[in-house]
Amino acid sequence: MATRIVTLPGDGIGPEILAPAVDLLKRFVPDVTIEEHVFGGASIDAHGTALTDDTLAACRAADGVLLAAVGGPKWDTTDASKPRPEQGLLGLRKGMGLYANLRPVRPLPALYDASPLRREIIDGTDLLVVRELTGGIYFGEKTRTETTASDLCAYSAEEIERIARSAFEAARTKVTSVDKANVLETSRLWRQVVVDLHQREFSHIPLEHVLVDNAAMQLVSNPTSFDVIVTENLFGDILSDEAAMLTGSIGMLPSASLGAGGPGLFEPVHGSAPDIAGQGIANPLAMFLSTALLLRHGLNLESEATSLESAVDKALDQGLRTRDLGGTASTAEATEAVLAALG
Ligand code: NAD
Ligand code: IPM
Ligand code: MN
Repeated sequence: MATRIVTLPGDGIGPEILAPAVDLLKRFVPDVTIEEHVFGGASIDAHGTALTDDTLAACRAADGVLLAAVGGPKWDTTDASKPRPEQGLLGLRKGMGLYANLRPVRPLPALYDASPLRREIIDGTDLLVVRELTGGIYFGEKTRTETTASDLCAYSAEEIERIARSAFEAARTKVTSVDKANVLETSRLWRQVVVDLHQREFSHIPLEHVLVDNAAMQLVSNPTSFDVIVTENLFGDILSDEAAMLTGSIGMLPSASLGAGGPGLFEPVHGSAPDIAGQGIANPLAMFLSTALLLRHGLNLESEATSLESAVDKALDQGLRTRDLGGTASTAEATEAVLAALG
């Protein structure tokens, strides 16, 4: 049966980076069927909601979902009753049961000088942020009056254990569990559940606990000390943007969101970059690397995934630099460079 992929271009630079990624995907999976749906702000404009029931059903029925980015000033509002593009993203992650968000941070030597950090600090970094994606403060009860507001941060032991398991399974040398157990009750439960699972099933893997503020500092002072970082939803969101700068640009970082069986969702870590949308200058590499993660985790095509990643590495080695990396290459030129590297 043909491979069915749902694509969600979203907003801003989304359509500009998704189109070439689909071209690449077709080279690796010639029989792929692409079903595109409006999503985020574009879906609010078309249907009044960021994620329609139809789109969610199509995503659940696909072999994988490729998403670019959502959001933009057009839909920014502080009015809680108005729809927001980001609600579509959260609804999709929750609706597909995608609790494990993998964000690999693998800076390439060719890009060491594109990072604001010194080469000797970055050199040898190869880490993975395992971000819990369907719980915590993102999904707790929200309240709002004229003068007060609250967002509940809640976690169950079951939610913590399954993400901790994903982290231990992905670990090569160590798991660093990041929390705020000196203040937050959710973090104290987090730590206890991680320790219990470690003792029961993964005691052969070194485990350490680092408080989130300290982790933020160590990510830029001693990034090579990390292997797998596992953390709750909000901490993982913030730490992964920070970690992206080790690779030179937020435009380099891909992600895979996986659940228990079922299709995965593959998307860059960055957003819709409204400040550069429509100019054809967005860096498409995080989108391409997310496509590689779709090949690997979504379609079980390991050698195809590696070929695509190697082509991105080669293009960068040969001098490809978009503006965010200090160069002048357009999105189209970056795409051509990767295609040429694929041979
Ligand atoms: P952003 O990631 O969109 O942009 C931050 C900065 O990085 C901008 O200067 C932008 O130009 C640059 N940048 C991002 N991606 C780039 C790329 N591929 N190539 C070159 N430069 C790139 O973050 P933001 O500005 O805080 O958010 C903009 C909108 O995106 C908001 O509505 C936000 O909610 C949304 N957002 C969506 C996602 C998603 O869809 N997964 C992720 C993050 C933010
Ligand atoms: C991300 C984004 C989203 C998040 C937003 C757009 C809801 O920042 O994917 O990192 O916070 O998860
Ligand atoms: Mn984010």
